[in-house]
Amino acid sequence: MDERIVTNHPLEEDQFEANIRPDSIDEYIGQQEVKENLKIFMQAAKMRGESLDHVLLYGPPGLGKTTLAYIIANEMGVNIKTASGPSIEKSGDLAAILSTLEPGDVLFIDEIHRMPRFIEEILYPAMEDFTLDIIVGSDSSTRNIKIDLPPFTLVGATTRAGDLTSPLRDRFGIVSKLQFYTVEELTEIVKRTSRVLGVSIDDSAAVELASRSRGTPRIANRLLKRVRDFALVLGDGNITLDITNLALDKLKVDKLGLDDTDYHLLKAIIEKFNGGPVGIEAIASSIGEEQSTIEDVYEPYLLQIGFLKRTTRGRVVTEKAYEHLKIKKQGTLF
Ligand SMILES: Nc1ncnc2c1ncn2[C@@H]1O[C@H](COP(=O)(O)OP(=O)(O)O)[C@@H](O)[C@H]1O
Ligand SMILES: [Mg+2]
Repeated sequence: MDERIVTNHPLEEDQFEANIRPDSIDEYIGQQEVKENLKIFMQAAKMRGESLDHVLLYGPPGLGKTTLAYIIANEMGVNIKTASGPSIEKSGDLAAILSTLEPGDVLFIDEIHRMPRFIEEILYPAMEDFTLDIIVGSDSSTRNIKIDLPPFTLVGATTRAGDLTSPLRDRFGIVSKLQFYTVEELTEIVKRTSRVLGVSIDDSAAVELASRSRGTPRIANRLLKRVRDFALVLGDGNITLDITNLALDKLKVDKLGLDDTDYHLLKAIIEKFNGGPVGIEAIASSIGEEQSTIEDVYEPYLLQIGFLKRTTRGRVVTEKAYEHLKIKKQGTLF
């Protein structure tokens, strides 16, 4: 895993995340549409005395999928059991988790796109009819057994909705895509986390931090913790705009949240492929990175801020990116 300070994947140092997670839907900042819909569905399920429909949450890492799964369980007043796709290797693993569920409980499966296919097939009847069909015994004497499960809510999270098989996808009644956060929303998140951590931060500093956080709460919280250290050692503990700028410059996170890796990627496309269009495979081999890392980690934010464009002929670096990098585009006048 990469160790970029602006990576959207969790790092060792993000362990504190559990403590700063909002636990109610009203404390969950942004994602307005997702929240409003979920509120209605949760209230309706409660009014009918039923379990909430299965929920699929998708979007880039660090946008609040796990947090939302916990919030759903909290709001519904039920337990949450967690698993991750790749960790469910045998049918027994799934059966073991399912058998611990109480009526209405949330089963959260992270990285659900990485679940083995045959496990997925066991999950279908569990999701649909709340029954578990498993085969027991050895090759000579096997038999099918059917176990009734209590009604439960499967909350699946994935960064790649496209990798989900359609039969699995179709079994989710509620499908929500999480979006990158605006600077205003991230500013609120930074202020909220500061309150939880008991550190004071100036408004202008919160905005600055938010603007450099790549639309991602996980990154905002991580940068906040680092800046807090600078404030303590170099200042009086209060996070000011000056300290924030100094700290983030030292951490090599630029005004838009870009770091060396982004520059490297953009410059590779500019220098080796004249700005594109160029295929993702060619980019991957030219910077020595895996295609999936580029697609999942490097690229989404660059696409989001309009520095990269995806065309049928490949990726293109935009005018906006050239300007930000202060590189002249070949074949133009300036
Ligand atoms: N909407 C939000 N409001 C406040 N904090 C958030 C929000 N979304 C995410 N966070 C914070 O960002 C961090 C990463 O969120 P997480 O749910 O683990 O992301 P994901 O599961 O999508 O990778 C957590 O510390 C979480 O508290
Ligand atoms: Mg998560």
